[in-house]
Amino acid sequence: MATTSKQPEKHHIESSPLVISDSFEGYPLNFFNLPLHYRDDLKSVLIPYGLVQDRIEALASRIFSDLHIHIPEQLICMCVLKGGYRFFSDLVSKIQNENRLRNDRSLPMSLEFIRVRSYINDHSTDQTEIIGLSDLNSLKDKHILIVEDIIDTGVTMVALKKELEKFKPKTINVVSLFTKRRSDKKCIFKPDYSGFEVPDHFIVGYALDYNEYFRDLEHICVMKESGIKGQRQKLLQQLEKKQTQADVTADEYQEKSKSTKKILDQCRTGVDSLFKKIGCDRRQIDHLLQSHEGVTEDNILRYLGIIEERTNELLTAQAAIAAKEQNMSLRDRAPNLIGDGPSGPAPQVNLHLPNTDDRRDPDERDDRADDELKPLTREELKLRAAEQVKHLERKALQEQNKYNDLALSTTREKSAPGTSRGAGGDNGKAPTSRGR
Ligand code: HPA
Ligand code: MG
Repeated sequence: MATTSKQPEKHHIESSPLVISDSFEGYPLNFFNLPLHYRDDLKSVLIPYGLVQDRIEALASRIFSDLHIHIPEQLICMCVLKGGYRFFSDLVSKIQNENRLRNDRSLPMSLEFIRVRSYINDHSTDQTEIIGLSDLNSLKDKHILIVEDIIDTGVTMVALKKELEKFKPKTINVVSLFTKRRSDKKCIFKPDYSGFEVPDHFIVGYALDYNEYFRDLEHICVMKESGIKGQRQKLLQQLEKKQTQADVTADEYQEKSKSTKKILDQCRTGVDSLFKKIGCDRRQIDHLLQSHEGVTEDNILRYLGIIEERTNELLTAQAAIAAKEQNMSLRDRAPNLIGDGPSGPAPQVNLHLPNTDDRRDPDERDDRADDELKPLTREELKLRAAEQVKHLERKALQEQNKYNDLALSTTREKSAPGTSRGAGGDNGKAPTSRGR
């Protein structure tokens, strides 16, 4: 007897969304445990948390079956923050479960987190910026799964995909937990995998927000009109506060700019009058600076440079006259003006790095000659190092004093013995490289 063996139909999990019809208004709030801080803003629970989890588990299984790619290639699971973070976390952990329980196949994953910023650029065209990926070039030849919370108009997702395609990945799949059934039907993107198709209401919860509120709500809920209005009011207040702060900051900057301008004006006037007083020929300066505007913010530093030069010339001339009257050389009379500074040319500094040969004073050397043959303890080593530092310091001070004495005699300033101690000491000079 012939038997007809009917093949059992392969159970295939839907990749398209479970449709929530317009006629379904959601479950009344009082059947759920909801945070007090949100109760007044919500109308109903559209999709309870448990159902969300079940659908994600099904999606994970379908994605696992479809995308198990040859090991060791990784699927880059790309979370679109912030709204997608909970869906991403649950989806990945459910794919991990599949990996754990299946022995015939597996799907290695790597995780990425991005934020997408849409803005209008200088040429009034939409631009998408991907924030968070350190190296977009690393996407080349990879498989990507974009994990998104909700697709509404689809504009962002189209732009994101286009942007990622520039980096030549092998495949890009998109999974969105929700797709919005817009009443104007203006949705330009259909994801490869979707959890639920929802009516054209504003939904919140499970990381979906309104103005950063409701992310900490478990169930997917529909907002009350009054709740939306209340949130809009809050948003408006926040914007007004920001605007006020921005105004205050702008005023502060304006004040700062005014006072800076005033100081600059004073500088300009001062420089101008100095110029006249020291008798600079204005036309030559204008020629030099290629400007007929006089002192401006742009050229004031060059003016100051010229004043410095001219002042130096005048002082040098004055010093030359004084030197002649006192029968001195100009170098002795005005060492600063001709470049050496009050102490004459700086002495040659010989850097003397300690070496094994001069570990201690020569007079001590003989006494300890025998010791050199013995290995030193840590303490002995420390002691010797300290002695050596002291010795070098003494030497440096001696040399410094020699230098200071020389400087004092050069400038012919009378000072009591012992005032020329270290460099940068009582005589008010800048320290030299031997300033210890
Ligand atoms: N809820 C939260 N975020 C959204 C929605 C929504 O309904 N549509 C687009 N972004
Ligand atoms: Mg999103």
